[in-house]
Amino acid sequence: MKRAKITIVGAGNVGATTAHWCAAAELGDIVLVDIPQTEGMPQGKALGKALDLMQAAPIMKFDCALTGTNRYEDTAASDVVVITAGVPRKPGMSRDDLLATNAAIVGSVAAEIRNTSPDAVIIVVSNPLDAMVERVRQVTGFSPRRVMGQAGVLDTARFRAFLAAELGVSVEDVAAMLLGGHGDTMVPLASCASVGGIPVGQLITAERLAQIIERTRNGGAEIVGLLKTGSAYYAPAAATAEMVEAIVRDKKRLLPVAAYCDKEYGVGGYYVGVPVILGAGGVERIIELAMSDEERASFQKSVDAVKSLVATMARLTS
Ligand code: NAI
Ligand code: 2OP
Repeated sequence: MKRAKITIVGAGNVGATTAHWCAAAELGDIVLVDIPQTEGMPQGKALGKALDLMQAAPIMKFDCALTGTNRYEDTAASDVVVITAGVPRKPGMSRDDLLATNAAIVGSVAAEIRNTSPDAVIIVVSNPLDAMVERVRQVTGFSPRRVMGQAGVLDTARFRAFLAAELGVSVEDVAAMLLGGHGDTMVPLASCASVGGIPVGQLITAERLAQIIERTRNGGAEIVGLLKTGSAYYAPAAATAEMVEAIVRDKKRLLPVAAYCDKEYGVGGYYVGVPVILGAGGVERIIELAMSDEERASFQKSVDAVKSLVATMARLTS
């Protein structure tokens, strides 16, 4: 069987760790791309990290090719492309502060991918996520089904991890779903959180659940505050690898993904986190959930925040 070709753009913390998880799960042959570190030298981070990871293969027993490069021709005809290129958030910096810098970087990466991998499914990770994924859709002109963002898998993983720790149960038994943008306006759905099928509201007080939801909302900022020099990468990379797996193995996973919603949820043509069926075709279906009045109001607030971010990006990139 032909192995999938997976390109990961940006060999920094999230990109290299995504390569690591994808290799460990033997999801396909992996190409890691970054910019040259030194003017005129076709060497650098991507080559070094790919070589290092390749040398781990005999010990960790993964069979896949790992290539590091600074040239997009090496990424040609990729099945899946993950974009992590950009600069990460520093302490005191909001995701929105990253907008102008990362819109330029991500726009140039998207143009390369459009030319070299016209049939790829693209997963955008760079922040501010909900604007960067729209930037990639605009620049590539790909069907929105093939351009999506990673945020909800990470945000629900944080929610699930905190709930499991609180309740003293296995993370495997905790399920959760959330809606909305990646950031302070995300909408964790208390009504969809369960442990072994039991609604979480039967196991925890409303007050404690609200505290855990708040911690989930601030999950990224909490880690930035601890690391000081960058943002989270193990969980973001694991979340991204889970999406890559759903696509290359056509698993039809039901996952929260930043997907292009037009009529869905009445969003009107923006990327927003919603439950989708993820398979070989990318976002194969968007699931529309019933929401309480309170959840609907929070979701609308989140959509409005995405709209304002995209409007700012349009001003900055025109
Ligand atoms: P990092 O600084 O470790 O890595 C970024 C890499 O992008 C660097 O190696 C840099 O050289 C590279 N890069 C810059 N311009 C490039 C270009 N034109 N072409 C190719 N590569 C280029 O940052 P980190 O921690 O890996 O984060 C990457 C991005 O992911 C940031 O924007 C961060 O905010 C975002 N992020 C998003 C998450 C999500 O859930 N959506 C979670 C965690 C991070
Ligand atoms: C996070 O949520 C920085 O978006 C990144 O950790």
